[in-house]
Amino acid sequence: MQAAVSSGLEGILGDCGGACQCATCHIYIDQSWLDQLPEMDGMEDDMLEGTAAPRLAQSRLGCCVILEAVHEGMVVTLPPTQI
Ligand code: FES
Repeated sequence: MQAAVSSGLEGILGDCGGACQCATCHIYIDQSWLDQLPEMDGMEDDMLEGTAAPRLAQSRLGCCVILEAVHEGMVVTLPPTQI
């Protein structure tokens, strides 16, 4: 989320600043990358129940995905809406 907002990427709002309270950083991670990410915690799981766009199996909150070097090349798709 922070990388997207800092880069001015449209489609990621990050209204709560990364506090896992708004779900406006909803993203879809390419299926092949899901195993490269830490499992989501209960708070993220709960927030994903309130996203504007449908929650899919590959849904995550961008603010809960901490990028590391191993994620270079990860494919992320944005939902059609965040609000
Ligand atoms: S920025 Fe608000 S939940 Fe991710």
